Amino acid sequence: MAVNLLLGLQWGDEGKGKIVDVLTKNYDIIARFQGGPNAGHTLEFDGIKHVLHTIPSGIFHDKAINLVGNGVVIDPVIFKKELDNLAKFDLDYKSKLVISRKAHLILPTHRILDAASEASKGKAKIGSTLKGIGPTYMDKTGRNGIRVGDLELSDWKERYRNLANKHEAMIDFYDAKIEYDLEELENEFFAAIETLKSLTFIDSEEYLYQAQKEGKKILAEGAQGSLLDIDFGTYPFVTSSNTTAAGACTGLGVAPNKIKEVFGIFKAYTTRVGSGPFPTELFDDDGETMGRVGNEFGATTGRERRCGWLDLVALKYAVHVNGVTQLMMMKGDVLSGFKTLKVCTAYNYKGKTITHLPYNIEPENVTPVYTEMKGWSEDLTKMSNKSEFPKELNEYIEFLEKELETPITIVSVGPDRTQTIHR
Ligand code: GDP
Ligand code: IMO
Ligand code: MG
Repeated sequence: MAVNLLLGLQWGDEGKGKIVDVLTKNYDIIARFQGGPNAGHTLEFDGIKHVLHTIPSGIFHDKAINLVGNGVVIDPVIFKKELDNLAKFDLDYKSKLVISRKAHLILPTHRILDAASEASKGKAKIGSTLKGIGPTYMDKTGRNGIRVGDLELSDWKERYRNLANKHEAMIDFYDAKIEYDLEELENEFFAAIETLKSLTFIDSEEYLYQAQKEGKKILAEGAQGSLLDIDFGTYPFVTSSNTTAAGACTGLGVAPNKIKEVFGIFKAYTTRVGSGPFPTELFDDDGETMGRVGNEFGATTGRERRCGWLDLVALKYAVHVNGVTQLMMMKGDVLSGFKTLKVCTAYNYKGKTITHLPYNIEPENVTPVYTEMKGWSEDLTKMSNKSEFPKELNEYIEFLEKELETPITIVSVGPDRTQTIHR
């Protein structure tokens, strides 16, 4: 059976958690393939809001197995907190959650290194979530990392000590004057490791191979968004993993020819949290309205998200890089009440009009060229069928489908599971 992928097409927070939760009933396995606790995936149902960071968004369903893939980086301390939060929901998560032995561990010193690196950058900081993501992936590619499977070795604490000692020297090198109590952080870390060890560790690539052979249905859940991809994002203002479709192959051990549908998720407008260029960013009342109505605050850090109009130049790029086969448009309800909607369909780039994403989208190089569309005033949040959509919303959707040459198969009209309309 084929593997389907679900990915964010913008700068993250598109609503991946919500849609994975909605789709889980159709799948046997939900697998996270990259990122770590920098992600914050929100699910809402039965009047309760849940935020997951490392645990896949299928965990609230009875049947599906949730797999944390080899491409993910795990902070045992945050992972334990997530599990503690689930404890009150009678989920029997131990039988539904499996972890790749090849996933790398975020150590307390990785978090401190992240903070020291950001502090040393001053104004040029990435705006990292400070969860230790960059330093952990650096140790992975530098071939120094500690993996989940190492916890089964008798000398893993020795390996830990060697790496932590090296990190301490690196932290000193930054001279960033970060205060921390390593002993306290380590006590918390080692306690959380015991919790992690109570879960099932697997050779996940083999597990997924057998699952495919048995005809099981697998959905790979992305974190972050395509414009935060280490190769294809707005470098250096990106995260440290491949958030695009290829990341699912390396982050799970799934062969490219086994991937079938690629679901690309986007907001009906654009948001970004952290630093970096954002051509359609708004600094006026319209941007303020999007942030307020859309409740645009980071699910992981609580930071205010920057808001702006939909950027079709960037979105088209993400559709191409990922080979998106179906689009899902989120938060259309937030745009209700705007008399006119703007969609960026080209960039003015160094005096020329271009429709592809150039190497450098810093504001001094790029000015967005907008197409204006009529907005709608109807409240979408109570709608349950596409036949109720206002004419202007249909025009907006059809315009995007034409520009992106890809069908929009789901329109989300609110944060709740039930506020999801299939087209
Ligand atoms: P993720 O990281 O892609 O899973 O997205 P986040 O959870 O970080 O951010 C999406 C936010 O929008 C969450 O607060 C969701 O509850 C909320 N949300 C998702 N879909 C919709 C929608 O269609 N309308 C509205 N108003 N909120 C939504
Ligand atoms: P989800 O999965 C939005 C951003 C950070 C920062 C940059 C690098 O919820 O969509 P990092 O901590 O990875 O070193 O931060 O990437 N960022 C996200 N923005 N959603 C996310 O995840 C993000 N994960 C990282 O704000 O700009
Ligand atoms: Mg998020």
